[in-house]
Amino acid sequence: MLQKLEEVKKEFDSQISSVTSIPDMAVFKADFLGKKGKLNALMGGVRDLSVEEKKSFGARANEVKQEMLDAIDKRSQIIEIEAINSKLEKNKQDISWTDRITDKGQQAAGLHPLTKVTRELEDIFLSMGFDILDGPHIEDEYHNFEALNIPESHPARDMQDTFWFKDKKHLLRTHTSNLQIRGMETHKPPFKFVGPGKVFRCETLDASHEAAFHQLEGMMVGKDISVPHMIHFLRTLLSEIFKSELKVRLRPGFFPFVEPGFELDYECLLCGGRGCSVCKQVGWVEALGCGMVHPNVLKSGNIDPQQFNGFAFGLGIDRLTMMRYHIDDVRHLHSGNMQFSEQFRAY
Ligand code: DAH
Repeated sequence: MLQKLEEVKKEFDSQISSVTSIPDMAVFKADFLGKKGKLNALMGGVRDLSVEEKKSFGARANEVKQEMLDAIDKRSQIIEIEAINSKLEKNKQDISWTDRITDKGQQAAGLHPLTKVTRELEDIFLSMGFDILDGPHIEDEYHNFEALNIPESHPARDMQDTFWFKDKKHLLRTHTSNLQIRGMETHKPPFKFVGPGKVFRCETLDASHEAAFHQLEGMMVGKDISVPHMIHFLRTLLSEIFKSELKVRLRPGFFPFVEPGFELDYECLLCGGRGCSVCKQVGWVEALGCGMVHPNVLKSGNIDPQQFNGFAFGLGIDRLTMMRYHIDDVRHLHSGNMQFSEQFRAY
């Protein structure tokens, strides 16, 4: 009898690891420990045993039963963990960007329209020999205002509603013009660089205003650079972006870090200048602020304004992206709405 018991236990031990699902485990358990199971079948023979044998058999049988129950618990836990792992494996999303269909047949991720436009801009500037800069979002007063010819009392500080930190010395940069100062710290003239990035303003949000938006700053400093150079350069740039010859116009604009300063508009591409909802019926769209770098700014960068001059510009990437892809509300860009983003896969 005891020997049979050990045989049943052996059989149990050799089979349990091949049970791979919870329903199968229930069947397996019933097969050994159920009413009509192998253990109970042995119990039927107990009555033929002597008292002594009954005792030792009963004790061992209880042990075996407990060992089997423990083993079933342990194995069930493993099965559950394996089930979770394989589910995770099956549903795994490849979040790294790739331009192909993944081996699991998932549609590959796409680039956000802002990223696409920013990269295109960078490519255009790289092909023209510009350096590309990056700069901090958390900036100090000096780089965001002071060194850009915007002293503390200057009304221009109120032109941009600033997110200040508690120390009143740091802020979220209100424009990418801080890169002019940071760029001059690392470049000796002649130089030309651009820097795209996020900027922040405490604004009331609507279809064309976000508290976080994107600009691209550019600066070119050398000898005998003039306004016509700047206009030619900026027109070429916009034509490259929109892949067509654009009409541009300059209006005087006030920015403390340039003199003279301008705002550059281009003829609305959607209506050809006749007026539509996108250009607010004026036929022209504001593209960027620009101008000849103010001597005080050059001095902030330890550059002698008698020897060198140049131009700077700051371009709004969000507006450009909206024009390019016919997006009618800037708030879509940061909505995180997949239905919105997925439309740009094919571009
Ligand atoms: N920083 C300005 C703004 O955010 C844009 C700007 C205007 C940048 C003129 C420039 C510039 O470099 O020359 O409104």
